[in-house]
This record gives sequence, C-alpha cells and structure tokens, in this order.
Amino acid sequence: MAQTTPVMEPHRAQWKTRIGFLLAAAGSAVGLGNIWRFPYLAYQHGGGAFLVPYVIALLTAGIPLLILEFGLGHKMRGSAPMSFAKANPHWEWLGWWMVTFVMFGIVLYYSVVIAWCVCYLGYSLTLAWGPDPNAFFFQQFLGATAGPHVIGDIRSPILLGLVIVWLVNWACVFFGVEEGIERANKVFMPLLFLLLLILVGWTMTLPGAWDGIGTYLKPDFAKLAKPTVWIDAYSQAFFSLSVGFGIMIVYASYLPRHTDINRSAFQVAAMDTLVAFIAGLAVFGTLGYMMTKTGKPLTELVQHGIGLAFVAYPQAISLLPGLSSVFGVVFFLTLIFAGITSSMSILEAFTAAVMDKFHYPRKVVVTVLSIAGFLGGIIFATGGGLSWLDLVDHALSHYGLFLACLLQCLVVGWLAKGLHLREHVNEHSSFPLGRGFEVLVRFVIPAVILVLLGNDFTKDMREPYSGYPWLAIILIGRDWLVVTLIAALFVAMRPWRKPLDRQ
Ligand code: TRP
Repeated sequence: MAQTTPVMEPHRAQWKTRIGFLLAAAGSAVGLGNIWRFPYLAYQHGGGAFLVPYVIALLTAGIPLLILEFGLGHKMRGSAPMSFAKANPHWEWLGWWMVTFVMFGIVLYYSVVIAWCVCYLGYSLTLAWGPDPNAFFFQQFLGATAGPHVIGDIRSPILLGLVIVWLVNWACVFFGVEEGIERANKVFMPLLFLLLLILVGWTMTLPGAWDGIGTYLKPDFAKLAKPTVWIDAYSQAFFSLSVGFGIMIVYASYLPRHTDINRSAFQVAAMDTLVAFIAGLAVFGTLGYMMTKTGKPLTELVQHGIGLAFVAYPQAISLLPGLSSVFGVVFFLTLIFAGITSSMSILEAFTAAVMDKFHYPRKVVVTVLSIAGFLGGIIFATGGGLSWLDLVDHALSHYGLFLACLLQCLVVGWLAKGLHLREHVNEHSSFPLGRGFEVLVRFVIPAVILVLLGNDFTKDMREPYSGYPWLAIILIGRDWLVVTLIAALFVAMRPWRKPLDRQ
C-alpha cells in the first residue's frame, strides 16, 4: 500500500518503566507453585541435581515459549485473542480459550487458596489451629466432605477471605496498567522478596534448619536417569512461567517498541527460579527444625501443596520459641503476595481481551469479571470444595495448559507463515536468537508436550487421580475444558467492533 495513509496506532496503555513490566511479569510467574511445589519436587528428584533438568526445561521450552508470547503480544499489540486473530484469522478462538479456562477455571480456585491464606494470616495471631493443625484444617476449617458429590455448607471465613481477595484483584486491575497493575506489583513484589529473605534468615537461626536444607540441596545425580524427574521438571517450568494462559501476551502488548524481548524473558525466568530456589531454603529449613524438635525423620514430615502450607507450617509455627505469631504472619503474607500478583494477571488478560474486541470500558469489564470470579469461586469455598479444587486443578493445569501451549506452537510455528517472530524479537535484543528457536517451537516443544500429555493420560487411566473414580476426572475435567472451548468459539465468531489491522 502507498505510504500516503499514515498507520493510526490506536492508543494503548503502556508500562511506565521496564522494571514495572518485569516485576508484573515476574509477579504473574511467581505464585504459590514456587513456594509449595518447586522445593518439594527438588527434594524428591535429586535435591540440588534437580536444577539440571529444571534449567534444561527452561532453556529448551519455558523461555522459548515466554519469548514467543512476549514477541507475539509485542508485535501485534494486543491481548491473546487479538494477537492470534492478527496472526491467523482462524485461530482467534485459541486466545479466547486460554483466557477463558484460566479466568473461569484456574483463578476461581486459586483465589480460594489465597483466601485460605488470608484466614490463616488471622489465625497466626492466636495460633488458632491448636495442638492438631491437621484436624483443624480439614475438619474445622474446610469442613471437608467425603467427595465432590457431597457439597456440604459454605464456609463463612473462607467466603469472607474470598471477598477480600477479589476486592484486591479488582482494585489492582480497575485502575489500569500503569496506575493499577504496575503500581501494585512495584509494591507487592519487593515486599515479597523482603518477606522471603526475612523468612529464610529467621529459619536459618533455628536448630536443625541446616540439616533440612542439606537434605533439600544434597545432589543425587543418579535420580536424573528417571523419566518422571524430567516430566515433572518440564511441567513445573510451564506452569510456573505462566505461559499458555495468554497473560504474557497481553503484558508484552503494553511495552514500547524498542524493547529487548529476549533479555526480558531471561530476566523473568531468572527471577521466578530464584524465588523458587530461595523458598526451598525456608521450607526445608523449617522442616529441619521440626525434625529436631519432634525427633521424627524428614520423610515423615515432608509435605507439599496444601499440606505444607496449612498443616506442616502451622505445626512448625506452634513449636517456635518467641515470636511465633510474627513468623506465621510473614509466611502467609508471602503466600498472599505471591498469589495475588498471579491472579490479577489473568484478570487483566481477560479484561484486555474484552476491551480489545468489544471496546467496553475497562472499569465495567473488571467489575463484572470480579463479581463473576467471586461467585464462581463459591463452589470451592464449600465442604466439597477441596475435592472440586483437586479435580479441576488436575484437568486445567495439566491438560488445559499443555494443549494451549501445543496449539500455540502449532499456530506460530507452522500456520502463521508471515509472522517472522524471530526477526521481530531480534530487532532490539542484545543477543539475537538463531534458527534453533524455530526448531524448538516447531519440533522440540510440541514433542515434549505430547510426551507430557501422554504420560498424564496413561497415568490417569491406570490409577485414577487421587483415588477419584476416573470417570469423575474425565467428566469434570473434560466438561470444564469443553464448555470453555465452546464459549471461546462463540465469542471468536462475534464481529470486531473495529476492523483489525492485520500485520
Ligand atoms: N505461575 C503461578 C504459580 O507458580 C501459577 C499461575 C500462573 C497462575 N498464572 C496464573 C495462577 C494465573 C492463577 C492465575 O503458582
């Protein structure tokens, strides 16, 4: 086309500073998984030696996907649906599917877990869990029922916590990219680092802490021969970096033209890994202290996920000499900051998607979504909530995430020929990517994902996840993915309020 018509770039929000963007992207990446999953995986899979498969997973899959998403959002200057629509008009639905199954799936229960942390922040003050934190958590606090088919009652403290979580999510996204998200992350992320350092420093002064840390780090390279070690390393790298959710696409769409995309991706991955590694020092230091105090072996005390945060930690907190309440407050605040910066990121990813396509005002979209997110979360705040959480999490953060990443590689690597993504990200980057990047996106990452999917599937068929009947897993998980997929297809078929300027 002739140069006479100037390209009108519609006004798009922009990060005020690069560090603001990096902190927001790292905020999304650093989540509960860094604190309660990575250290456990490392301990289980060869201690310090686990860093080898993990770093390889980051270099061969996690970081390339991060660069792919940053590059796509940056080039297209759009949310996930807009970026895919511009790359290839048939694939807009993929962008909608990503943001939908995360917004109306993962975030619903993720916010409930943050709500538990809010409650436990309060309980820390009086050590309200008493002598038996296990019974307190499952019976008194959750009122856990026999399974997903028994809903039980709504737990009011959790509901209250959920209101607080959604109010914070809402407030951070309501005020927009610079005034809301960037500002919140500039406060929350430094605080998170600080609290984590306090936690590690404090833990190291406790008797026995170094024994625990020694067990966490002692390298056992022989374990690396086991395929599960590699499978877990890859799936943790995917989930932890927040790829496949459309978040990094939209965050990069707010970057100025001259941005070093490749370096940013490495920096975000480095921050994410550093936090996970340091969190491990705190977690295993605390477990080492418990070992000394109770005389039990570490193998009996070690926990991950919910059991670590809401059973083992309360036990340890109760055993502490002196300011045990403060220790509890620091620990749960760390979890809350880690969680909120992740949950707000998907709220933004969905909000921006709706704004891009339908031009509704941000404030309306955020408010409606926050209310919907809160209402949708209520099912997880019931007595049956834990089983629901477990099932939905298994379906979405495995099958959903892997499929989304796989399709994303397919679109960018194979179908959107004229995209020239590598040329785009190399333009302003201090170290350019070679042809290897394309090989990774087109062959290596899809192959890895197929292995992960196949592994999950055969495992679920052989021994039903967590002892649930496999029908429940397949039905709940499949339905959740199918319903969000239909919704995504439907929205993708609606017309754009303004025609897209295809790149
Ligand atoms: N990366 C987060 C973790 O390690 C998980 C996560 C990423 C997430 N994006 C999210 C959770 C969006 C909820 C919403 O825990």
